[in-house]
Amino acid sequence: MNWRTKLIHSERKVPEGFRSLVAPVFHGSTTLFRRAAAIVDTWDHDDVFYSYGSYGTPTTLELAARIAELEGGYRSFVTPGGQSALILIYMACLSGGDHVLVPESIYGPSRAFADQVLRRYRVEVEYYPPLEGPSLSQRIRDNTRLIWCESPGSITMEIQDVPAIVAGAHARGVLVALDNTWGAGVLFDAFRHEIDFSVQAITKYIGGHGDLLLGSVSVRDEALYKRIGTAFQHLGMMASPEDCFLALRGLQTLPVRLKAIEESALRVAKWLAGRPEVEIVLHPALPSCPGHEVWKRDFTGSSGLFSVVYRRPLSRQDLHRCMDRLRLFQMGYSWGGVSSLIVTPDLDEAPNARAYGDRLVRFYVGLEDPDDLISDIEQAFRV
Ligand SMILES: Cc1ncc(COP(=O)(O)O)c(C=O)c1O
Repeated sequence: MNWRTKLIHSERKVPEGFRSLVAPVFHGSTTLFRRAAAIVDTWDHDDVFYSYGSYGTPTTLELAARIAELEGGYRSFVTPGGQSALILIYMACLSGGDHVLVPESIYGPSRAFADQVLRRYRVEVEYYPPLEGPSLSQRIRDNTRLIWCESPGSITMEIQDVPAIVAGAHARGVLVALDNTWGAGVLFDAFRHEIDFSVQAITKYIGGHGDLLLGSVSVRDEALYKRIGTAFQHLGMMASPEDCFLALRGLQTLPVRLKAIEESALRVAKWLAGRPEVEIVLHPALPSCPGHEVWKRDFTGSSGLFSVVYRRPLSRQDLHRCMDRLRLFQMGYSWGGVSSLIVTPDLDEAPNARAYGDRLVRFYVGLEDPDDLISDIEQAFRV
């Protein structure tokens, strides 16, 4: 053979017998069939192990299997980001003419998708106050197909009465999806609470280092596995094996990181609650957070994200000047990694935060020493 052909059809083979502690990264758009009769195009790994890279390589499927195991779901799908995981559920469950119930405290880009895309396809989108529990079932109509929960809510941190919402929904045959990112899929047991779809932005705690974007959708049973899998294929939601490799690494240290983050965030939140500059700390583990009693009943712990409402009088410029003086808390979106972060919400994306106006700031506490973080805020408060 010509050397150019040899580059493609090499006789060298990787020696057998090497076993690493670490799951390898399998790349590949094309996956090979051994016989012509076996050629088939299907996402369903129950039917055919591998048929095309879009539906997963061993690396992406390993991550999906581990997330299903962690969350106690029937199966999981790994998506290119948390937002695409949310979209996968919307697209798998809704058609024109259907009705969907979405909490007012939903993650901003999820709201934007519902308002700007679903409404274009004549889906009726109705927002509900996140603290509605059993009474939410009164909003269910004959064409309601899906209820979203996100607990705690984005920015305003309300803890939802998920068991009451699920009971009302299932009594009327309506599916319930939960954005379970704040609890890393473990602090709230979605499937014990009979959720149908549990979503995580793996970008946050499982990734854990601010260096990847991934999401997951875990499903309750086989029928939902088929439904999500079909939409997964239609939407071409393949995730990068490199990112999945990083997430597999992150999974192993999740418990220790989460524990340290929980303790530090609680210390910082409690310290903030005692400051004269602060009116309310919206941290689920503190009684000042709406829905705190439900958090105590349903969650096994807390994580690093919470919000703070400053006391009046305070102008946006004062707040920005205070934030600009911070040295350890950096300004940027996302959370769940090792670095502490702070942002002011975009009130167009989080209309439920408008009641607090310019006085609300979202904190994320990472893995720095909490005393250093407290000193950092203290020096920023000093004018
Ligand atoms: C609650 C929540 N869900 C979903 C997402 C979307 O995740 P990603 O950034 O991976 O798209 C985010 C991102 O900030 C989030 O905060």
